[in-house]
Amino acid sequence: MSVQMAPSILASDFARLADEAQAVADVADWLHVDVMDNHFVPNLTIGLPVVESLLRHTSLPVDCHLMIEDPDRWAHGYAAAGAANVTIHAEASRSPLRTLRAIRAAGARSGLALNPATPVEPYADLLGAVDMLLVMTIEPGFGGQPFLDVVLPKLRRARELIAGREPAIWLQVDGGVTGETIERCAEAGADVFVAGTAVYQAGDPARAVQALRAQAERAISISRRNVR
Ligand code: DX5
Ligand code: ZN
Repeated sequence: MSVQMAPSILASDFARLADEAQAVADVADWLHVDVMDNHFVPNLTIGLPVVESLLRHTSLPVDCHLMIEDPDRWAHGYAAAGAANVTIHAEASRSPLRTLRAIRAAGARSGLALNPATPVEPYADLLGAVDMLLVMTIEPGFGGQPFLDVVLPKLRRARELIAGREPAIWLQVDGGVTGETIERCAEAGADVFVAGTAVYQAGDPARAVQALRAQAERAISISRRNVR
């Protein structure tokens, strides 16, 4: 389980998306792109045309987080456009299994996201179709919200559910991930870390990514040592 960093461009300057992506291109593993439709969440961001443009202007693999109604209709398009990961929300999908399979069939990794109040256990039987589980650590919709510690027990249960699976399912956290909170997430089992404000509102986004990664790696190695 190695640490992967996914800066979220939601906290960046939308008028300079290509430059903002470039600012973390050498230090990040993914570029996290939040697609919001003003229905599933009370905020509106970008859609497929902007993602298609961004894909042409970044060397980073793009991680699309779809906070939209009817992801069953739209998810395939993001995968077909070249997003390397497409995540749908369990709360919004009427046929998650079919949609997760369609994402994979289009050549992307498949992600399943759970809001803070959504339990992980009902989705245990679907995990064979999931490449990454996203446990939201805020209510989705806006960056800059405080981290919800109440989600940590679910994160631990999610880690237990996916333990030992081959191929491995990644466990992503998104929301309020900062220098204050990333160690708790890593210790609870997360291995993919989305950070918006903590990266793009820092003076030097690349250094912020490196510092967060170092903290997560340290926390994971300490918790492994304690298990032994
Ligand atoms: C919010 C988005 C997040 C957002 C996180 O719904 O899914 O990806 O960018 O922002 P921070 O890191 O500021 O909480
Ligand atoms: Zn997100």
